Amino acid sequence: MSRIEDLLQRMTLAEKAGQMTQVTLDTISYGKPYKVKNPLRLSPQKLKKVIEKKLVGSVLNVGTHAHTPARWRELIDEIQAAAARTRLGIPVLYGLDTIHGANYVMGSTLFPQQLGLAATGNTELVEQVFSLAARDTLRAGVPWLFAPVADLGRDPRWPRLWEAFGEDVQITKDMTVAATKGIEKVEGAASCLKHFLGYGYPQSGMDRTPAWIPERQLREYYLPPFVSGLAAGSPSVMVNSGEINGEPVHASKFLLTDLLRGELGFDGVVVTDWEDVIYLHTRHRVADSYRSAVKISIEAGIDMSMTAMDTDFADHIVDLVESGELPEARIDESVRRILRMKEKLGLFEIPNPGHDFPAAKPKKDLALATKAAEQSIVLLKNKRGALPLKKQQRILVVGPTANSKRSLHGGWTYTWQGEKTDELDPSEHPTFLAAFRSEYGKKNVRYVQGCNHQDELKMKKLKDKLKWADRVILCLGESSYTEFFGSLDDLYLSPGQEELSVQVAKAKKPTTLLLLQGRPRCISRLKGKYDSILTAFYPGHGGATALSGVLTGRVNPSGRLPLTYPRSPNSLIPYDHKSTENQELQGAKSAFDPEFEFGYGLSYTDFSYRKLKLKKDVVGQNDKLKVSVKVKNTGRRSGGHVVQLYTRTHFAAITPSVRRLRAFQRIELQAGEERTVTFSIDVADLAYIGLDQQPRLEDGKYSLMIGDLEKDFMIAG
Ligand code: GLC
Repeated sequence: MSRIEDLLQRMTLAEKAGQMTQVTLDTISYGKPYKVKNPLRLSPQKLKKVIEKKLVGSVLNVGTHAHTPARWRELIDEIQAAAARTRLGIPVLYGLDTIHGANYVMGSTLFPQQLGLAATGNTELVEQVFSLAARDTLRAGVPWLFAPVADLGRDPRWPRLWEAFGEDVQITKDMTVAATKGIEKVEGAASCLKHFLGYGYPQSGMDRTPAWIPERQLREYYLPPFVSGLAAGSPSVMVNSGEINGEPVHASKFLLTDLLRGELGFDGVVVTDWEDVIYLHTRHRVADSYRSAVKISIEAGIDMSMTAMDTDFADHIVDLVESGELPEARIDESVRRILRMKEKLGLFEIPNPGHDFPAAKPKKDLALATKAAEQSIVLLKNKRGALPLKKQQRILVVGPTANSKRSLHGGWTYTWQGEKTDELDPSEHPTFLAAFRSEYGKKNVRYVQGCNHQDELKMKKLKDKLKWADRVILCLGESSYTEFFGSLDDLYLSPGQEELSVQVAKAKKPTTLLLLQGRPRCISRLKGKYDSILTAFYPGHGGATALSGVLTGRVNPSGRLPLTYPRSPNSLIPYDHKSTENQELQGAKSAFDPEFEFGYGLSYTDFSYRKLKLKKDVVGQNDKLKVSVKVKNTGRRSGGHVVQLYTRTHFAAITPSVRRLRAFQRIELQAGEERTVTFSIDVADLAYIGLDQQPRLEDGKYSLMIGDLEKDFMIAG
């Protein structure tokens, strides 16, 4: 008999219920939940109560803020020592939000947030980033990473857009696979795909508000990244806190059991999101008590509840089983999955993987973070070669994101909301202003904040400095936030930033607009003509020097928008829209009217395409589409370039998208170099989901587009 089966047989119901319970670090620390004493210290009394008496099997989060690796190892040792004092000594499984590097481990290198990583088009790099993040997390003694986010970010208003890989299925699939593989290849680390399913499309655009997503759309757009992430070996899934079509996902037997387990065959651990079982009672109101919420969620298919604050969840399980309302066999299913995960992570042998862990290589790690940041920057406009900047001009840097580390990192940075980043981030990491001053030369760079993120205007000396300047770099965008704290009532930039743009425009100086943001804030109301515009989506520790490098020309930008950049809050339609969303009706406004299109991004060099070839222009439904194209760097400097392959379905029973991205590859070309890029696409991947919820691929005419080239092909039989 296996160790797990033997253990299971020996476990009491209370021990099993404890394994299904996950609490936050606050509950075993001095102080009160959300108000833990700083510096954080574990309370022996609380440890005894929660771990030894209530037998809780999993802990998450940071309590106060990120801890050093050494402090983490001490904390994990204390917690595992308490677990070892229980009858069976089952080790605790510790989980942390490792979102853009080991952001809760002090001293770790922080990378661009997922939206920025998506802009790189570089899956190899993304895999390296998440492997490094896994190592930094393990060095702290923590094996379980609550990453990657596999949600599609299709609503630019959504406050967690920057945590996702953008609006496109293919990019999200490929990047989710890269991130998952990156984590899973690190022995002792486990990824967690989140948030299953359809979390990123709340109807209001505000976090955790109801979503209405027809099953057909769920299957065609939102499900594939999870299917790919599971195929890449992720052992756990975290559930979407929201509701879809009136059903809270934590109560959905269809989604959590029939679809995830039945259809996808997943037999790993399903963990709830924060307090989401009791929220079935207190928020969603589908359960008239916490106890019935426990029953509903376990019947739906959860294995572990991130109760976060309470251990009553475990008591309710015992009560429900003893009263015959829940079969113990169902509890055994969940406990088996949890114990298997702990065994696979080696926790029974080494409860704290942080000891004797190889040291970090900060210089090498920062080099990777800088490479990722450089490739994540998207150059959106560059009229008359305004960039790179000419040498020795007088430059005035203005705006709230210029000297803000919160704007370089976003949320999940040392704390949940990232509000302490400027205080906690090691001083060796510069803000954009500091990096630019250091590179361009202090004497020619002056600064005015202009306004802060609370929209308080800070325009003292702005007029004088504008007079002095030859050029302005206007740094706008967002500070840090996540989840419901980032919900917006207007996607335009804030009034203070718009007012600042008015004051800067009055000086009529050449101006570069630099946007540091987590989502594409609408800029169409800004006053001022910007001869150059660039954006980065929380580019991380390498971001400041990368942005400076793009402005001075040391770095050639190559990022491509992983989203459609809206012109106004009323037009939030993604690139893979339907033809009826993309046409002028007798000169009336087209619904699809972006500021910048999905996949757009400029370079300081030029690339041309020629000789687009299909091996066969008539293919069967089970064939591969073999494609080649020649790409040339026709400019005078080397550059990275993301080659994107789209297809169009000319006619289908379900209205076809005007185009869908099917593959992408990043290449680096020297000036004048030409390379043949090849793709092999499964024809079956062009299927859509029919009204019968099944994949459907129709014979007929299709087109394939790369750059400005297009080729028709037929699918026949
Ligand atoms: C949060 C987030 C989730 C995170 C979890 C633990 O509410 O929704 O992404 O992993 O709680 O911090």
